[in-house]
Amino acid sequence: MKKSKYLLSSFVLASLMLLSCGNKEEKASENSNADIPVSREMIAELTSPPNVPTPVGARKAKKLIVEMEILEKEGEMTDGVKYMYWTFGGTVPGSFIRTRVGDEVEFHLQNHPDNKLPHNIDLHAVTGTGGGAESSFVSPGHEKIFSFKTLNPGLYVYHCATAPVGMHIANGMYGLILVEPEGGLPHVDKEYYIMQGDFYTKGANGERGLQPFDMQKAVDENADYVVFNGKVGALTGDNALTAKVGETVRLFVGNGGPSLVSSFHVIGEIFDKVHIEGGEMINENVQTTLIPAGGAAMIEFRVDVPGTFILVDHSIFRAFNKGALGMLKVEGEPNKTIYSGEISEGIYLPEGPGIQNMPTTDEIVASEIPAKSFEEQMEFGKQAYMQTCFACHQAEGQGIPNAFPPLAKSDYLNADVDRAIGIVLNGLTGEITVNGNKYNSVMTRQMLSTDEVANVLTYVYNSWGNSKKVVTKAMVEKVKNN
Ligand code: CU
Repeated sequence: MKKSKYLLSSFVLASLMLLSCGNKEEKASENSNADIPVSREMIAELTSPPNVPTPVGARKAKKLIVEMEILEKEGEMTDGVKYMYWTFGGTVPGSFIRTRVGDEVEFHLQNHPDNKLPHNIDLHAVTGTGGGAESSFVSPGHEKIFSFKTLNPGLYVYHCATAPVGMHIANGMYGLILVEPEGGLPHVDKEYYIMQGDFYTKGANGERGLQPFDMQKAVDENADYVVFNGKVGALTGDNALTAKVGETVRLFVGNGGPSLVSSFHVIGEIFDKVHIEGGEMINENVQTTLIPAGGAAMIEFRVDVPGTFILVDHSIFRAFNKGALGMLKVEGEPNKTIYSGEISEGIYLPEGPGIQNMPTTDEIVASEIPAKSFEEQMEFGKQAYMQTCFACHQAEGQGIPNAFPPLAKSDYLNADVDRAIGIVLNGLTGEITVNGNKYNSVMTRQMLSTDEVANVLTYVYNSWGNSKKVVTKAMVEKVKNN
């Protein structure tokens, strides 16, 4: 049984080999890049993210000396949250290594004497046992040297592979090594280095202080932080990537993991080309590319219009709640044909006669029957609440953590009735603090009549432990006319 299967597969294989051209047959048996001669010795330029070293261009293959220092050092995950990172070269991700095919890389792995642990390195660009891990296991205060020849062009992850491997990677021990093809990659105007990683801390997301690694959360793949370049905000605000309209951009994007795969996406931009999984195959016109843990992609696009383009893991709670968010700021002249921006806002009424202007609050139709008593105010107010407010603030006014503030026992609400009336009438955008927690969301202006505003606020103030104020139509009108 086994034998006939073997014979059959040999037959299929032989036919395939006969069909394929001689060139491919050769490539399958040996990698001719192993024969590329090297001329001279050269010290590799290493860079910290998001920067990358100078392209190889037309340079010949060389003996390339890489000196990589391992540093265990404290850093900031986000405001007030410290983390003990383990790093290649002092950064997460580690220093970018840029080689060309045929280079003979002499790798010097140095473990700083102040470090507490032994480490090593597994480079996915290495053809050989452990990707170098076995030859590079090095104790604090020591250096290990090994060498390898780059046989396959592509973008590769490197990482520590010392037990417990998952923990070393989770603490930030990963980076990228690029092997350029003969003659180099095509010219682009800007190149950047980005790497996603998931982090697991004893405290919940945002809990202050020095946060130790949490092994159980890591095993469960229940990340507290999912970030680009080692921390929340590494690529936002003043740290944003930049480009000018008309420039071509290449992103070297890796995923260190240890566990989560990345659905990498840039909001408002389409990838012209993606070297999928960092290899030779190019996909064109891509919206989101999947980057496996321990994998990478080369992404290229031309920026055509100005604006801030948001880099995300499109597993979207990771972006907006766990940190996987970066920015590319593009300056230059707008092109209204490619993107107009907002042209106008009208009101949309499916049954109506057509597009009308937004009504002012005075024009909003008053509820048909005004409430005649406190009990009716509560009843009508509850109806309005369940139609208008419930989706965000929830049935018991408890809100949604990190998204929408609570109305129950709310210090913000109870402190100022006029302010509350104003928010229902005009909406609210920006950061506020409610019961000690910060919220930064958008509440749009609500289409409620003066009566309805009075009723809904009376209902809210007289529910869930609030201050039992009664809001009248006159109070709402006073705020409206201020
Ligand atoms: Cu390590």
